[in-house]
Amino acid sequence: MAATGSEKQGATAYYVSTPIYYVNDAPHLGHAYTTVAGDVLTRWHRQRGEKVWYLTGTDEHGQKIMRTAEANDVTPQAWCDKLVEEAWKPLWEHLNIANDDFIRTTEKRHTDRVQEFVQDLYDKGEIYKGGYEGPYCVGCEEYKLPGDLIDGEGEFAGQKLCPVHKKPVELLKEENYFFKLSEYGPKLLEFYAANPGFIQPESARNEVVNFVEQGLQDLSISRSTFDWGVPVPWDDKHVIYVWIDALLNYATAVGYGANQEKFDGTFPADVHLIGKDILRFHSVIWPAMLMAQGLPLPGKVVANGWLMVGGEKMSKSNLTGIKPQDLTSHFGVDAYRWYFLRAIAYGSDGSFSWEDFTARYTSELANDYGNLASRVAAMVGKYFGGALPEATAVGDAERAVQEGLAKAVATADQKIGEELDFQSGILAVFDFVKQVNGYITEQEPWKVAKDTTPEGQARLATILYTAAEALRGVAVLLNAVMPETSQSLWESLGAEESLGALADQKVQDAGAWGILPAGTTVTKGAVLFPRLEEKPA
Ligand code: MSP
Repeated sequence: MAATGSEKQGATAYYVSTPIYYVNDAPHLGHAYTTVAGDVLTRWHRQRGEKVWYLTGTDEHGQKIMRTAEANDVTPQAWCDKLVEEAWKPLWEHLNIANDDFIRTTEKRHTDRVQEFVQDLYDKGEIYKGGYEGPYCVGCEEYKLPGDLIDGEGEFAGQKLCPVHKKPVELLKEENYFFKLSEYGPKLLEFYAANPGFIQPESARNEVVNFVEQGLQDLSISRSTFDWGVPVPWDDKHVIYVWIDALLNYATAVGYGANQEKFDGTFPADVHLIGKDILRFHSVIWPAMLMAQGLPLPGKVVANGWLMVGGEKMSKSNLTGIKPQDLTSHFGVDAYRWYFLRAIAYGSDGSFSWEDFTARYTSELANDYGNLASRVAAMVGKYFGGALPEATAVGDAERAVQEGLAKAVATADQKIGEELDFQSGILAVFDFVKQVNGYITEQEPWKVAKDTTPEGQARLATILYTAAEALRGVAVLLNAVMPETSQSLWESLGAEESLGALADQKVQDAGAWGILPAGTTVTKGAVLFPRLEEKPA
């Protein structure tokens, strides 16, 4: 059997992908949600010391892009070039996304290989010519099954609408090339059964299994009514269906057909991060394409829920004008990266509100975390001239903090690194921050400071060492989520000098105790989470 699941042959890289996004418009909060999640996941694995490959990119062919370009009086290529360079790449840079590559489907390294892949399938008898007539949604770039459509109301009364875009579908009739997808149903079901974690969350898996159990239709893989796409190699009156073209990015970007060593060491992806709108493409069509070629299948496909606006999936048309940059200029990039993963359980739908973001920023980031960092640094400065004292009077209270850190590390590593349960992982770290705040409140170092006996000074030293060492652990644990503020805390603890670069601190070692050496110079750095200005009008 060709499909052997997630085992890679001699592979070394932990390979994570985002969807490649349509460039019909600039990125919005929903696109950034998936990309930030992938960045946190890959930074986490890098900080375990693993080799990682994080891929994102843009999907540039198809009717949707072509129509947008036409409406703007430019060629599709010019439109894509402009959007990629002026909107997409700059946003990922702004959000501190550490992707290893950025693939564009109009690049030759991609289009050549797509043609080879499809030609290969044709030569193997997996593709045949046929006719198709059915409702098509340009927003989804997908033929819909009549049963999937909803009845229009108001301006669309009497028409059938796409359930995702809530816009009328178009009835298309074309002569197309078809991929024999219907033959792969039983093999796919067998694969899902043998790999229960392949599709996540559970609800997504159930949906796909039900869908496949009902029987698959063959898939139209070419279009002939427009030409913005990769030509079908044996028949240039057709272009390859944009989804076949797009899914192949996960192979072409890592050397498929071009760099065997790179390909063997990276492919298949360990995790394809997607939104639930594109689940079937990734968990049905993509694995079937790979099976047809005898290529190994991905480790898992993880679907995030939708960011909602007014009860609808956030999209270009209902954004109410909020751009990622509007939020980062108000809350900062790190808080932005943190907020959506903290506030919404990954896999579930969620909404954004200024009020909720503001409340969480103030209580969790500024008060709990930021204040802890600045108080500890201030007290080490005030009582010990900025030199981290030694802990010589460790008792039960300190041991509880040590255990708290070890627990936070274990939980966060499991939740973020393995389960992609970002919310629980982040919560585990913030519970620990609360514990350390409680410890300081109980120990009252400002009172202990008045006791000038050697015992009193030893207690004071122990309390402040414990708090600083706890923060050392927090800086490591939050580095994947909030790299800028973690770096700032790291420097304020003097850890850059005494322990080296933050990125080199292994997350699995972060729960060990006594890492930060006594004598380290602690300074009061910049405020990690400044008080918020008035909300912009
Ligand atoms: N080009 C295809 C994907 C091809 S992948 C081989 C596509 N592009 S898209 O621009 O429409 O982006 C879809 C992805 O953006 C979703 O799957 C999801 O990851 C993200 N999101 C877009 N809007 C979203 C929300 N409102 N909420 C959460 N994620 C959303 O489909």
